[in-house]
Amino acid sequence: EDPGATLTLRADATGPQVNPNVYGHFAEHLGRCIYEGIWVGEDSSIPNTRGIRQDVVAALRELEIPVLRWPGGCFADEYHWKDGIGPRENRPKLINTHWGGVVENNHFGTHEFLDLCEQIGAEPYICGNVGSGSVQEMMNWVEYMTSDADSPMANLRRANGRDKPWKVPYFGVGNESWGCGGNMRPEFYADLYRRYNTFVKNYSGNRIYRIACGSNGSDFNWTEVLMDRAGRRMNGLSLHYYTLPTGDWGRKGSATEFDEAQYHATLFQTLRMDELIAKHGEIMDRHDPQKRVGMIIDEWGIWTDVEPGTNPGFLYQQNSLRDAIIAGLNFHIFHRHADRVAMTNIAQTINVLQAMILTDKQAMLRTPTFHVFEMFKVHQGGTVLPIELKTPKYTLDGKSIPTVSASATRRDDGVVSLSLVNTHPTESIRVACAVGEVPLKSVSGRVLTAPAVNSHNTFDHPETVKPTEFTAALVEGDTLNVDLPSKSVVVLTLQ
Ligand code: AHR
Repeated sequence: EDPGATLTLRADATGPQVNPNVYGHFAEHLGRCIYEGIWVGEDSSIPNTRGIRQDVVAALRELEIPVLRWPGGCFADEYHWKDGIGPRENRPKLINTHWGGVVENNHFGTHEFLDLCEQIGAEPYICGNVGSGSVQEMMNWVEYMTSDADSPMANLRRANGRDKPWKVPYFGVGNESWGCGGNMRPEFYADLYRRYNTFVKNYSGNRIYRIACGSNGSDFNWTEVLMDRAGRRMNGLSLHYYTLPTGDWGRKGSATEFDEAQYHATLFQTLRMDELIAKHGEIMDRHDPQKRVGMIIDEWGIWTDVEPGTNPGFLYQQNSLRDAIIAGLNFHIFHRHADRVAMTNIAQTINVLQAMILTDKQAMLRTPTFHVFEMFKVHQGGTVLPIELKTPKYTLDGKSIPTVSASATRRDDGVVSLSLVNTHPTESIRVACAVGEVPLKSVSGRVLTAPAVNSHNTFDHPETVKPTEFTAALVEGDTLNVDLPSKSVVVLTLQ
């Protein structure tokens, strides 16, 4: 029996483009994501530019983040933007009722967020307040940020120190309106979406891509109703799906203390993303066969128990090699559906859920997930190449997942990036790749792996999991043989 995998890659074929926004991020006023993680204030001893951490900005720039979603999440539907502008000492406070009941001082507001976007080179995706905000408030916010006119809101912005309007290309009309955003039924939200969206205007040449609140996981009826009643008035419809290790919100499981059964179950859960995109996509196809409306998966990632001893409302969790494998598997799924998936935003950038970066006062570390985003950035904007993959299964307790997952894209300059994941925790596998027309003058690569699937980076050992050069890809005749180590993520550059 041949335990290896085979892969056929057609480098000359055409396919849909991976929208760079598939590699987007999400930062909410939640726990230590914004405060401490990004914002330390101008008087902090931590080096900062206008209050924003320089170490974090430098690390995020390595990821070439295309788009950043803010201010929530659930926070968005209790956020009143006018509380977050003007002199900081005068800004009113509010209670962040969803996330630990802490007092929010509004020091990080519209100007600070848009400054962050400029510092990291990302486009802003702002989520407006439908749950507890007025239509006028939402309308004013858009005018404040984007109008160049001699108009009340634009002049208020100028008075607060910003002359030129910003570009705000993406705007969400409410978040999780079926839950924390107002517990609405889809018919009611569809009408509210139509109403609020009417007043989200395009000022001064800023053209807004409008994103309606989409389904919670497998709520297909939500997608049906939204597409039917409001599909023509939106550019994007969101979808939220979190990977729960056990599939059970009541006992999610630890981020680092898990056995093989939990590891396998977690990957099984994450792979459900494929089926969810396919099924929501079928509904969207019926209403929108041209695929004009983008599927915007603006919250995804693994959600575990919080780290012991931390505030349960802060959603602070460690990040292991398992998380890196999850990220790789999800990106492969998103690439497979590149004709419909126009953006995704992993939850969340810093110190919350499946984070890129963890901070502890002045210390900062890059998580295994960070490294996958960095390794995979070569896929941004690439053309998805069709591949045929035959892989053995990794089976446990009667459930199977593929041992190998793969995706390939081609850049405009002809360079092909092939990413591979070996989900098996203990067995390496040979992948024999028939690469067709790929020019194979040179093959180089990097690998992310570690001693165990729960290996992770700590402030004492921040580089336990980090990418290294990969040398086990060898061209033999017209086959590229890749020896994938167990529990690894590999990105190869073929040119
Ligand atoms: O990302 C954490 C929370 O998960 C978001 O605030 C909310 O939209 C979702 O339920």
